Amino acid sequence: MLHDFKVRDESKLLTPGLLVYPDRVQKNIDSMIRIAGGVERLIPHVKTHKMSAVIKLQMQAGILQFKCATLAEMKLLLDCGVDLILLAHQPTPEKARQFLKWQKEYPHIHCATLVDNLDSLNLFSELTKEADENINLWIDINNGMNRTGIIPEKALSLYRAMIRIPRVSFSGLHVYDGHIRPEDLQDRIAKCNDDFKPVKELISQIEAAGGVVPHIISGGSPSFYPHSLQKKTLLSPGTTLLWDLGYKKIWKESPFLNAAVLITRLISKPNTNTYCFDLGHKAVASEMPLPRVTILGMENAIHKGQSEEHLIVFYDEPNDFKVGDLFYALPYHICPTVAKYNRVYTVEDNMQTGYWDVEARDYQIDLNS
Ligand SMILES: Cc1ncc(COP(=O)(O)O)c(C=O)c1O
Repeated sequence: MLHDFKVRDESKLLTPGLLVYPDRVQKNIDSMIRIAGGVERLIPHVKTHKMSAVIKLQMQAGILQFKCATLAEMKLLLDCGVDLILLAHQPTPEKARQFLKWQKEYPHIHCATLVDNLDSLNLFSELTKEADENINLWIDINNGMNRTGIIPEKALSLYRAMIRIPRVSFSGLHVYDGHIRPEDLQDRIAKCNDDFKPVKELISQIEAAGGVVPHIISGGSPSFYPHSLQKKTLLSPGTTLLWDLGYKKIWKESPFLNAAVLITRLISKPNTNTYCFDLGHKAVASEMPLPRVTILGMENAIHKGQSEEHLIVFYDEPNDFKVGDLFYALPYHICPTVAKYNRVYTVEDNMQTGYWDVEARDYQIDLNS
């Protein structure tokens, strides 16, 4: 495993840092297309990587529709010239105005966003009038995650209100089921199908009312395979591009490869069997308890603590580790890890070949550019 990631000349690598392996990203894209049964069913999320380089690799493979969560991610997709963008984060008024402004400036790109309540629907109605624009809306459905969305049992009335509003067009149902995490594949498929039943019931109600649900977008990575079996829905994984240990645990048999690896250096040995690395919680996703990474070559280390710029581990196996040595570490959660870096090193054939910028990592972007 270590050999797969090792860079031959480590002397110029600044730590902490993030290495990305383009050939592995490419293999992950191929696996996504294989599982989806074609590019047409894919609308991958860009939140995991926030990089134009990764968007462009997907576009070269024929994937032209994408999801995003922030305005910076949306702008990145507009600049990449994709066909379709779903801002999958119900916009507040100032974001909605910017969405409509960009939509007008990029008429060749189909833009859409989410709605899950009447107030937001009315806001979009007002803003489209003000901007003299139309808006494509997906109804965001809560089928068990309880994060955003309207529960399927209440969604028919939102649909009815929506179709009465001029300038608003109903794109379909957006069903993100990030709560589906059983580690056994058959259990995951069963839970995914079970939680989807109320969505099917809603579709029947809309059809009985004379309507049509043009499309359904469902799932992230853990439910990607289960939803792929349904054939009718569009699929929106994101983490599959770079992969991480958290999802490796949930979906052991997945074909996805770790395509992003942290690098860190041993900076101190403050006591017997105690090692300190320059990998603090400012350098890796830290919303979960320790361990937040697995250090290759030190898999059995006990992770004792992390401060802003330090990671302390206890390790009692014989070794000749020296201060200054470089270590490779797999993160448990890659998406917030990437967002901590303004650029990542690219590694091909065990050589560091350049950088990819993480262009969409900021919230505060210049809206006039
Ligand atoms: C709305 C939405 N769609 C898709 C995804 C991608 O899911 P995953 O990270 O499991 O691949 C996410 C991830 O948070 C999401 O919030």
